[in-house]
Order: sequence, then structure tokens, then C-alpha cells
Amino acid sequence: MLDFEEIASVDDFKESDRLEVFIDDTPVLLLHVGEQYFAIEDVCTHDGQPLTDGCIEDGAIICPRHGARFDLQSGKALCMPATKPVRTFEVEVRDQKILARPQS
Ligand code: FES
Repeated sequence: MLDFEEIASVDDFKESDRLEVFIDDTPVLLLHVGEQYFAIEDVCTHDGQPLTDGCIEDGAIICPRHGARFDLQSGKALCMPATKPVRTFEVEVRDQKILARPQS
């Protein structure tokens, strides 16, 4: 199992609920929703649109281009036109640091 990697700080979320980071060369969108942090690959599986500016609704992010929805926890595609999941990452907070690793 891969180790957690520090990708951000809790302080990075003072002015926004989202942050673009990289994990092993993969563009990742880190989101702060309620009390939880989620990390998902920042590429829609339908046609490659970054999900960066997608609205968050009911635990899902909506692709700004054609409206596919992805579950923030599992990455599952919840509606057309996307059919494949986006990759997600396990997130932990330790001492104000945000760490992530690929879901096993
Ligand atoms: S590129 Fe995301 S729904 Fe089409």
C-alpha cells in the first residue's frame, strides 16, 4: 500500500473550498465539503474537462462541460454522459497537514 503524501495544509482552505494539487504527476482536485476533505482526479472521464470549477451537490461534483456527476467518495459516475469513474484518493488530516494516497 502506498504511503500518504502531504499535499496541502488546512490553512490553504481559509478562502476557498478547493485547491488544485498534483499527486505523482496526476492533477488532483482537493475539496473541503462540510467537515470532510475529498481528493479526486481533476479530469472528467467523459471528455477530459477539468472538474476544478464543478458545482458540489449532495456529495457529488458536476462536470462544468456536459453535466456528468461523480461521487466524491468513490469517484463513481452517477449519470451520463460519463460512464467511467474518476480516480479518488484517501485523505487524512494530521497536525493541520492534509495528506493523501491513492484508494486501495
Ligand atoms: S467532459 Fe465532463 S461531462 Fe463531458
